[in-house]
Amino acid sequence: MSLKEQIKQNPLPKHIAIIMDGNGRWAKKKGYLRAIGHENGVDALRNIATASAEAGVRYLTVYAFSSENWNRPKTEVTALMALLVSSLRKELKTLTENKIRLNTIGHTDSLPKKCQNELAEVIQKTSDLTHMTLTLALSYGSKEEITDAIKTLAHQVKTGELNPDDITEEHINQNLYTANMPDPDLLIRTSGEYRISNYLLWQIAYSELYFTDKLWPDFGAEDLYEAIWNYQHRERRFGKISEQLNS
Ligand code: IPE
Ligand code: IPE
Ligand code: MG
Repeated sequence: MSLKEQIKQNPLPKHIAIIMDGNGRWAKKKGYLRAIGHENGVDALRNIATASAEAGVRYLTVYAFSSENWNRPKTEVTALMALLVSSLRKELKTLTENKIRLNTIGHTDSLPKKCQNELAEVIQKTSDLTHMTLTLALSYGSKEEITDAIKTLAHQVKTGELNPDDITEEHINQNLYTANMPDPDLLIRTSGEYRISNYLLWQIAYSELYFTDKLWPDFGAEDLYEAIWNYQHRERRFGKISEQLNS
């Protein structure tokens, strides 16, 4: 039985989050410009999004541009923004064919107007699609997201709408950019880095973490199935002991 068939026999992660890292090193290894690495990264994302939707994953949330990535050389930032626009134009067809709804998290209002317009258009055109939600984290930082949530709640306290003693985890959940999304079951990071880089810090409290040395442009459907298979063979105890889980 193929790995693809095997993973379909077990419960799938409902939500997979990915830190798509290693485009630059991939390009360098081949003697290409970093921008070529990012272009190949888009191809990898298309493959992974399609494979995820096909397998039955409901939410795929990918780190495409962090709030810290604004500090990269201007030429790279410009190239990434241009790539975002051209990819959105090109991939509307892929999204529609695979019934994938596009969504974003992050301070997208900091992106160039052209990106914002293109995003708004694709989000609107895919809003009725229900097979999978693909969320692009763009100008995203988890600490920024949590700070924004705290600000909203603080305002509600100030106006008397909310009593500080009544604040629950649910209030935080509902004021994150990911409100109404389940937390990731599985977080994958490529490129052999063992860090979270300010991604979904609150939401991954109980996610299973999977690290691979593969550079993002080399990460294909079989690698995704491998990560899912690995996830399916772990025991998620959520603080309990093994014996409690089966009773
Ligand atoms: C990830 O690849 C893509 C973005 C951060 C936009 P990198 O560009 O970080 O690639 P490396 O880490 O330099 O290899
Ligand atoms: C994380 O990758 C952000 C994205 C994948 C978009 P980075 O390459 O920016 O992470 P660090 O800075 O090496 O931790
Ligand atoms: Mg990197």
